[in-house]
Amino acid sequence: MSSLVVDNIGELVTNEAGSGEGGPLGIRRRVALLVEDGEVAWIGPAVDAPAADRRIDAGGAAVLPGFVDSHAHLVFAGDRAAEFAARMAGQPYTGGGIRTTVGATRTASDSELRATVRRLHAEALRQGTTTIEIKSGYGLTVADEARSLRIAAEVSEETTFLGAHVVPAEYADRPDEYVGLVCGPMLAAAAPHARWIDVFCERGAFDADHTRAILTCGQAVGLGVRVHANQLGPGPGVQLGVELGAASVDHCTHLTDADVDALASTRVDGMCAEGGHTATVATLLPGAEFSTRSPYPDARRLLDAGVTVALATDCNPGSSYTSSMPFCIALAVREMRMTPAEAVWAATAGGARALRRDDIGVLRTGARADLIILDAPSHLHLAYRPGVPLIRHVLHNGVPQ
Ligand code: NIG
Ligand code: FE
Repeated sequence: MSSLVVDNIGELVTNEAGSGEGGPLGIRRRVALLVEDGEVAWIGPAVDAPAADRRIDAGGAAVLPGFVDSHAHLVFAGDRAAEFAARMAGQPYTGGGIRTTVGATRTASDSELRATVRRLHAEALRQGTTTIEIKSGYGLTVADEARSLRIAAEVSEETTFLGAHVVPAEYADRPDEYVGLVCGPMLAAAAPHARWIDVFCERGAFDADHTRAILTCGQAVGLGVRVHANQLGPGPGVQLGVELGAASVDHCTHLTDADVDALASTRVDGMCAEGGHTATVATLLPGAEFSTRSPYPDARRLLDAGVTVALATDCNPGSSYTSSMPFCIALAVREMRMTPAEAVWAATAGGARALRRDDIGVLRTGARADLIILDAPSHLHLAYRPGVPLIRHVLHNGVPQ
């Protein structure tokens, strides 16, 4: 069993509220952290740091839990740069381009898809993301959804079956039949490789009845529920997610008071719910609003109502082609009026809540040794220095990357 100590830490963001300053960030100073067997084995006063096989001198920098990106679509082929350019020239985003990526993905080989997933996974890791959820959703046949998830599962244990991303062109006039396919053979082929099921519940994608039917089938085979909800307009997604006990409803760009109330009713204990994490998290994806030039979600309204908020990238070739959690933090602070502390919490502990995990997004004894050392003295710099590569070291499972 090899051990590693990180010392000379300027500030340690633990996300253990009450164990230090900074409210929910639980910031500790003059501490060192010991890693053994991929886990945090000890955190204590730097002067008491135990000897270890290896030492990393943080040089007075901030140390944080690795980012938890709880929403990404990494299994696809091709890109849609021309669609992006057209949007920047005034075209609206409608989700219609999803079918373009479906066409490209179906004709790609396994090794092409694998190369893209690995490239984006590595890109995210370099930027401090130590957990990334990966959705299918660009295959939309039994075989293509199953292989998408098989390939995703090679790099992440957080995989999500999104066979209900859109109705593919060949089923355009038979949506009920497509829902039958998703709930039947497609789910059967996908479920062995997936932990979660997701539906794009939106006008032009899946309505409330179809969404409920699909999510319920997924639950029946043991998958946890997440929903793409209220992205392009108001709709039933958020309240349906709450009704079904979803771990997370994602986007939340167009919310009514009833949507916010429904989310707030699931809160366990505000931002720091303990014991089961059964709250439905609102996962906000500001990269999508940035890249579709849309109004940002009202994060303050959710936070002020006590809703647990996560930040994620939504990395995909259409609406948000970024793998950068620091970029999303900066957007959340500048454009969504989250405080830097709220945004950092949402990108770490919030993402962990959205995945119903308590071993990540937090630095305490027994947690996974997933952590990042910044090229900066404080977590504030993640929003204060946008666009600057501030991730100096990444430890994943205790292993320096
Ligand atoms: O989360 N909204 C649905 N799905 C993706 C976009 C997919 C695409 O445009 O290719 C999203 O934004
Ligand atoms: Fe998405």
